[in-house]
Amino acid sequence: MTPTALVTGVSRGLGRHICRSLKGSGYRVLGAGLAAAPRHDDLDDYRSLNLGDRLPASLFATEDVDVVVNNAGVYLDDPRAGYGDLFALRVEDLHRTFEVNLFGTVQMALRYAPRMVERGSGRMVCVSSGMGRLQDADGASFAYRSSKLAVNSLTLAVSRHFTAAGTDVSAFSYCPGWIRTEMGTDSAPDDPADTAADLVRLLDLPAERTNGRFFRGLDELGWDK
Ligand SMILES: NC(=O)c1ccc[n+]([C@@H]2O[C@H](COP(=O)([O-])OP(=O)(O)OC[C@H]3O[C@@H](n4cnc5c(N)ncnc54)[C@H](OP(=O)(O)O)[C@@H]3O)[C@@H](O)[C@H]2O)c1
Repeated sequence: MTPTALVTGVSRGLGRHICRSLKGSGYRVLGAGLAAAPRHDDLDDYRSLNLGDRLPASLFATEDVDVVVNNAGVYLDDPRAGYGDLFALRVEDLHRTFEVNLFGTVQMALRYAPRMVERGSGRMVCVSSGMGRLQDADGASFAYRSSKLAVNSLTLAVSRHFTAAGTDVSAFSYCPGWIRTEMGTDSAPDDPADTAADLVRLLDLPAERTNGRFFRGLDELGWDK
């Protein structure tokens, strides 16, 4: 049977490449994102939504979703865009960052991870960042860094449930590296198509090889030391 993947943030950047890679690997691909309509043909179905809002109950409610890729994210306090350090942080930006990066991802996990346990198979990927590791913290980008730290904590919490279930289920965090997207800017060294392909390769590994782990590309990055 054709496996089904649901990806958030699909009309541009990394999400757009993840959809292409999934489609090329034989998945039925569902997407959700801010854009009113998807801007490419690698999606079988699409819903426009703001992940900072409450997740609609109807979101692909009748689909058996095998893979969820929580890709959508915002980086509001980016010093490259002129944002100041911690003492310049605007609290409304902290709120919005957590609404999209964390609350949106938590809602997706609460909706789809229990179904994976029930069905005895599934993969839940949280696209995170090495910037979310405590050991990499510095005085800037507090909102973004702390939201990704919290996303990593979510990955670990879901993975503990998956371990207890003892079936073919895996939750892992994935750092794409510094990639050429709107967020990463044109100065980034890495191609989003390559890192999207690596993420999709990880989905094929046995659950115990990925569950509760943090990858950058195909290599294990590891949590905080
Ligand atoms: N770029 C890098 O170097 C880098 C490094 C480490 C981690 N990451 C992570 O990789 C992921 C993708 O980043 P990117 O570089 O592709 O960023 P991007 O080019 O800025 O794209 C962001 C994506 O998030 C979606 N999005 C933003 N706000 C949303 C909201 N409120 N509701 C629903 N969707 C929303 C957008 O949806 P639409 O498509 O509908 O506009 C878009 O697809 C993010 O989680 C980011 O933190 C990126």
